[in-house]
Amino acid sequence: MDRNTILATPQGPRPDCLRGQALAALAALEWPEKMEAVRAISDSALLDRQREFAAPAGLPGRPARPELVAPAQVKHRSMATQEGRAALLHALAHIEFNAVNLALDILWRFADMPDAFYRDWLRVAREEAYHFDLLRQRLATLGFAYGDFPAHNGLWDMAERTRDDLLARLALVPRTLEARGLDASPMIRNKLAGAGDADSAAIVDIILRDEIGHVAIGNHWFKQLCAQAGKAPVACYAELAQQYDAPRLRGPFNLEARRAAGFDDAELAALQAG
Ligand SMILES: [Fe+2]
Ligand SMILES: [Fe+2]
Repeated sequence: MDRNTILATPQGPRPDCLRGQALAALAALEWPEKMEAVRAISDSALLDRQREFAAPAGLPGRPARPELVAPAQVKHRSMATQEGRAALLHALAHIEFNAVNLALDILWRFADMPDAFYRDWLRVAREEAYHFDLLRQRLATLGFAYGDFPAHNGLWDMAERTRDDLLARLALVPRTLEARGLDASPMIRNKLAGAGDADSAAIVDIILRDEIGHVAIGNHWFKQLCAQAGKAPVACYAELAQQYDAPRLRGPFNLEARRAAGFDDAELAALQAG
């Protein structure tokens, strides 16, 4: 369906399109409202690929708590205590909360991509909301809630830096920060399992499985845009990583997960060469 068809619907005002609904979900302040708004975006929502939006102030919407602090101020606690494990799960929940926002942001912000692009990121937004819920429920079982610990905002900071450049967004968010999550997962999982917390470890397994898909989506669209622009992915990534001051990635790398997510041998060699 093209844009004119959508605008000419005879039922009067156009129902808000998929991208408009994503923006509204991004702006939602409280987590229950945000997660509900994500779940409410229907596969049959109209998709207006060309629509340009004026960015409202105050994105992303987020609750007053957790308190946001510098990354160095986020304490690492012992896995031997329930509170220590809850602090780790809380940090993961905050990553997922930001990941929901990141997927929603890519939906409304970047116009003129193929339908499949928007369908892919809607799927990511839903899976991130699912991850957030799994962690939030597990936290509740341990006697804690989202907002009970301070958190840092590194993921969203990178979204800000790349807000005008989709190629950079794909390079730096899914292909760098989410891919770093693939590397970190086995260690986090083993820490939780080692502390006897099999339920939390099982949640990390589910998240890793889905995150491979998210990084794969990032890789797919990054490579597609590189091909359109006549750029070589490895060199293009290195340039963008420098330009946007990407965090330096250190091993051990989860090469199996990275391969499954679509990084090829040349990319993995470049990664390991540092
Ligand atoms: Fe996630
Ligand atoms: Fe993700």
